[in-house]
Amino acid sequence: MKSSLKRHLLDRATAPYRGLGVFHYRWGRGKLGNDPIFCALLERQIFPDGARITDLGCGRGLLAAWFLAAERLADEGQWPDDVTPPPRGLRFRGCELMGREAEVGNRALQPLYPGRVELSGGDMRAADLSGLNAIAILDVLHYIDYAEQDRLLDKIRSALPAGGLFLTRVGDAEGGLRFRISQLVDRGISFVQGHRLPRMWCRPVKAWVAALEARGFKVECLPMNGHNPFANVMLIARVLP
Ligand SMILES: C[S@@+](CC[C@H](N)C(=O)[O-])C[C@H]1O[C@@H](n2cnc3c(N)ncnc32)[C@H](O)[C@@H]1O
Repeated sequence: MKSSLKRHLLDRATAPYRGLGVFHYRWGRGKLGNDPIFCALLERQIFPDGARITDLGCGRGLLAAWFLAAERLADEGQWPDDVTPPPRGLRFRGCELMGREAEVGNRALQPLYPGRVELSGGDMRAADLSGLNAIAILDVLHYIDYAEQDRLLDKIRSALPAGGLFLTRVGDAEGGLRFRISQLVDRGISFVQGHRLPRMWCRPVKAWVAALEARGFKVECLPMNGHNPFANVMLIARVLP
């Protein structure tokens, strides 16, 4: 994405958080400005128009903030003709263990995008997954143990219709030093968020792919690290028709 468009989109996506405190605003700018996954999702047209998306471990709702800001820019004629257009009419639900973060997201986004965002405090393992066609879990699956991961994958598969999308990013446990660095950073961020130092249950990417394929998903893997020395991989898993 051209840097001028990215800056403009970053300003739009993070502006709603400005009135909720410097920390939330800066957090959003840091995350959306530096994590390559947000631009990649737009460029690859991952979400179709009208998608009903549930973001598990949604934090402050930055995924919704990003896509809804992009749509708003396009509606205002501020999206360049030569850049892949953003999807229209997305609706986001979210579930976040830290309820106060979900509340920040609601307070930032609901007044600007009525009926398009609903974030709740709670555990993703108990989230309501009815009535949606896309589920995102970005950098969260490793916080629950292996048996719970498997149960959640089963639940996700049952909730999605044919052609439905499960989007996730995981650390590749076979990623050597890069994996260990990403774990260190992850633990640091979790600590700042108030999670203390959680145990993490990671798998090699090939094990994630096997677990998804065994449930009837077709899986595409893309390294998703930007300039960071991490071993993160985005998995785009679609339910086979
Ligand atoms: C590394 S952050 C990622 C946040 C967000 N997905 C993003 O990409 O900006 C992980 C988030 O998952 C949340 N989380 C961890 N375990 C969870 C669970 N069992 N249910 C819901 N959220 C959880 C944490 O509170 C944290 O906000």
